Amino acid sequence: MLNMDTKLAKRQEEGKVIRTGIVGAGQMGRGMVTQMALMKGIMPAIVSDIKMDNVIHAFHYAGISDDQIAVAETLEEANKYMEMGKFVATDHSDIIAQANLVECAIDVTGVPEVGVKIATDALKNHKHVVMMDVETDVVIGSYLKKLGDQNGVIYTGSAGDEPGAVMELYSFAKAMGMQVKVITIDGIGGYTTYGSIATAEETYKNGYVVYGLVNKKTRMLKDVRKGQLLTLDMVELDTSTQLYQTRKMQDRMYHNGYALK
Ligand SMILES: NC(=O)c1ccc[n+]([C@@H]2O[C@H](COP(=O)([O-])OP(=O)(O)OC[C@H]3O[C@@H](n4cnc5c(N)ncnc54)[C@H](O)[C@@H]3O)[C@@H](O)[C@H]2O)c1
Repeated sequence: MLNMDTKLAKRQEEGKVIRTGIVGAGQMGRGMVTQMALMKGIMPAIVSDIKMDNVIHAFHYAGISDDQIAVAETLEEANKYMEMGKFVATDHSDIIAQANLVECAIDVTGVPEVGVKIATDALKNHKHVVMMDVETDVVIGSYLKKLGDQNGVIYTGSAGDEPGAVMELYSFAKAMGMQVKVITIDGIGGYTTYGSIATAEETYKNGYVVYGLVNKKTRMLKDVRKGQLLTLDMVELDTSTQLYQTRKMQDRMYHNGYALK
């Protein structure tokens, strides 16, 4: 974060404004649009939401007027409007990972099945990814980091958001010569009722069900006691999702115990 202001000002002066593509214009997405509109060197160039009203509201909330906004239905339109310097609104989130001028894709939907698609498509298209969607990051963040490395781009959380703040604290403590007990956190447990956290090692050792993998198609195979954590033998997970398939790939990369089949 140090010197970020001068680096961004330099990008602005050189005409190399970072054009971001934001998916999800809810509470956080709207906040990001507003903040970025105030900044030098970076802009919310294209914003997508399944509810177009949310995108338009986010732009208006940031003080961006209708004549600066263009609605894109196709990739070609999005590319054209971005080149014209317009703020592009769309309800086709797939465009974000493909648009020529997008340098960085940001998922702010909170929907893991959206997060996995946006992030994998963007990273494979050599675009940096900022993952605000912790619900996705907690399930497949390690895989996405590796995918970013393989494609020469960055996969990261966001400074100021809790996971980013934890990393900054970790880095500072380590630099100060402190011994840091590293915890890779997996969100585990139930669906909307009860959750817990565990290290990735504990998850693999005990076969805990990772929180984000439980959806409405998950079938219980056994009764669960109140407060009991779900383990893989208790449920039949929905294996059809991209999130499940990607977690399976992550398991193959890192597991030393229970893994998804
Ligand atoms: N609200 C906070 O204080 C806060 C803080 C830090 C991180 N976050 C994270 O930010 C993310 C979003 O949280 P929020 O509070 O803004 O949620 P929200 O429900 O207000 O916004 C989510 C937006 O995503 C849109 N969306 C859903 N599916 C979509 C799709 N397929 N394509 C495009 N858009 C889609 C929704 O229409 C909605 O506008 C979550 O991952 C959350 O954990 C939130």
